[in-house]
Amino acid sequence: MTGDVKRIAVVPGDGIGPEVINEAVGVLERLRETHGVKLELKHFDWGADKFLNEGVTLPQGALEMLSRDFDAVLAGAFGDPRVPSNKHAEDILLGMRRGLDLYINLRPVRLLHARLTPLRDRGPEDIDFVVFRENTEGAYSGAGGFLKKGTPDEIATQEELNTRKGVERIVVAAFEYARRARRRRVTMADKSNVQRFGGDLWQRVFKEVAARYADIEAVHQYVDATAMFMVLNPAQYDVVVTNNLFGDILTDLGAALQGGLGLAASGNIHPGRVSLFEPVHGSAPPLAGKAEANPAGAILSAALMLEYLGHADGASAVEAAVRECVNAGETTRDTGGQLSTAQAGERIRERIK
Ligand code: NAD
Ligand code: IPM
Ligand code: MN
Repeated sequence: MTGDVKRIAVVPGDGIGPEVINEAVGVLERLRETHGVKLELKHFDWGADKFLNEGVTLPQGALEMLSRDFDAVLAGAFGDPRVPSNKHAEDILLGMRRGLDLYINLRPVRLLHARLTPLRDRGPEDIDFVVFRENTEGAYSGAGGFLKKGTPDEIATQEELNTRKGVERIVVAAFEYARRARRRRVTMADKSNVQRFGGDLWQRVFKEVAARYADIEAVHQYVDATAMFMVLNPAQYDVVVTNNLFGDILTDLGAALQGGLGLAASGNIHPGRVSLFEPVHGSAPPLAGKAEANPAGAILSAALMLEYLGHADGASAVEAAVRECVNAGETTRDTGGQLSTAQAGERIRERIK
């Protein structure tokens, strides 16, 4: 990262992506005034339309360009019913995650107001943890294939790859975060009772790394139990570290605990390198074009990006503004309000001090 001005590639994508990213960009513009944040934004039209019109998904040289010319990427969502293969999303989103080696998928689960959670008698003090999802390998490696495809004896294999390096760096990232953020406990979730090879590697690495962080409590759970305990006793979690697929599933559950996908934010991070920030939700085709999508997930993702870029004050101001809007009931319908996407974005911007 160079100089004072941070360069952001904005990739709105498909469906509700452009609607929510428009509001997040508005928030970044507001921060130029309130916090003197210096940003240069450049938009890219990568997504389903470009794929259908030009046959291009992630343009050639895009990864090199992002690494060379940008400090961060702010993305909306990728996925379109006209592309049932999901090819463009795989090339663009997984392409950036893998191609830029963004090995940390950081997904906070934080309840802003008791009314938002479907759990009875739980409040913000009970639901406040961060998931460290491995983001470059596991079940997402694309390894596998077909034998006897199209016959009654067809076999499809889908390999899960776990490298020593890949497991170690995400586990270390989780413990480092715990220490920095003054969190007490790191919980590692796997399925090592069944996945005897990958699980064994995760177990060994977790124990080795945990021994270097005597100040942090290290807990292992089988991931099926983690899914249950996230519902029954979410207060036990501070930092959760897990593989790519389990992290994907647990963070949609986490999103539900904090009030829905409309509120959930994420960062795809390789410390010190160009990193990607995006809401956890997808393109939500049923909502697209209706001005109903909640922009908070995208806006909170922009806040994570600001924090990553060294603007912690700006990030906190954005989070506080979102919290105030939630408290005041000034939100879109998914979270009990009456506002359109643009109105909800505007109310958040007005509250940024
Ligand atoms: P989704 O997250 O798009 O939507 C599921 C449901 O959650 C929606 O129908 C809606 O009811 C609700 N929701 C999601 N975002 C919301 C918001 N901002 N405000 C209010 N409600 C919201 O998941 P899906 O329907 O399983 O997937 C749709 C498409 O998006 C698929 O093509 C999928 O592959 C893709 N997808 C992309 C990403 C991504 O780009 N990061 C993530 C998930 C899914
Ligand atoms: C997410 C999404 C993606 C994933 C899909 C769209 C490839 O569900 O970001 O959580 O599985 O990682
Ligand atoms: Mn997901």
